[in-house]
Amino acid sequence: MNILENISLKPYNTFGIDKTARFFVVVKSVDELKEAILWAKHQKVNVLVLGGGSNILLTQDQQALVIKIELGGIEVIREDSDYVWVEVGAGIIWHEFVLTSLENNWAGIENLSLIPGTVGASPMQNIGAYGVEVKDVFYSLKALDMDRLELEEFRSERCAFGYRESIFKHELKGKYVISSVIFRLGKKPEFHTDYGAIRETLEASGIKDLTIKAISDAVIQIRQSKLPDPKEIGNAGSFFKNPTISVTHFSSLKKDYPLIPGYPLPHGVKVPAAWLIEQCGWKGKRFGNVGVHSKQPLVLVNYGEGEGIEIKDLAEKIQQSVWEKFNVSIQPEVNFL
Ligand code: EPU
Repeated sequence: MNILENISLKPYNTFGIDKTARFFVVVKSVDELKEAILWAKHQKVNVLVLGGGSNILLTQDQQALVIKIELGGIEVIREDSDYVWVEVGAGIIWHEFVLTSLENNWAGIENLSLIPGTVGASPMQNIGAYGVEVKDVFYSLKALDMDRLELEEFRSERCAFGYRESIFKHELKGKYVISSVIFRLGKKPEFHTDYGAIRETLEASGIKDLTIKAISDAVIQIRQSKLPDPKEIGNAGSFFKNPTISVTHFSSLKKDYPLIPGYPLPHGVKVPAAWLIEQCGWKGKRFGNVGVHSKQPLVLVNYGEGEGIEIKDLAEKIQQSVWEKFNVSIQPEVNFL
């Protein structure tokens, strides 16, 4: 185990924020992970676990041991005539796993193409896009209890999945490190093409025989046209979650803003935060090193030398203006560190 000191975290977060880790280690096995946690306990320093760094905003230097998870492996552990159960190491890049699933004709995650981040982080916030969420293909995960240093298996019910939510962001925050995830993927695909943008893209490309590869290609095309590539412009995908408001609140907003979009849910109406932010005039605005993306205002960007604190300030101003105009509270999806 090679513990490094005072390492810049710039290459390890998709916002490209230049903050340092007091201690830093890469782990490639569960044994190395245990060793790293024990080391931190002995040194009495906190542990910060990093996957792809695609959902964090670094606002300060980290006085912790930052553990970069690089546990690998993609292995079929069981199959029947309809499904295949695949165990994937937490450190595998999510999109590489999607590509492997396409090569093997395993269906279920094609709508989740090109989402930044790692497999280990995917259940943490139940990643989702174009009508599919990780919980739809999730079977179980293995996670290391940081106190007892033993692996435990979590089935779906125990993960308490919600919209961009799981138990690992709340009650169990900082208590477990996910080491692998088992997905149940289909041998007989069920296509999810209801999301408007997917349907339109497939129609425009004149696809006759629908395949999971065709859906993945469409999703990649949509994402590349709307979302900035973190390799070129620092960002963490959607910065805020889409809020759910009451039916009464939605009806009263509809009177003043007849074009407000809304998706009915059992307990209210989900409103696209992108629309609210755009109405407040933020879309495409740049403030020095940071700004609001011009094609998708839900995405905040770092043009190069931006600081986490500048992005945090901008986010707070956006929240404030959405609150003042619509009386709606929008909450970050990104974790502030
Ligand atoms: N909209 C605008 N202006 C814009 C863009 C969007 O008003 O410039 C409104 C439109 O009404 C549009 C609606 O927002 O119909 C929805 O837009 P979009 O389809 O782009 O989806 P989103 O709700 O903004 C969510 C996810 C994305 C995911 C897309 C597609 C959240 C927080 N974000 O965005 O996830 O890719 O749906 O499924 O739920 C991410 O989490 O990092 C992420 C990119």
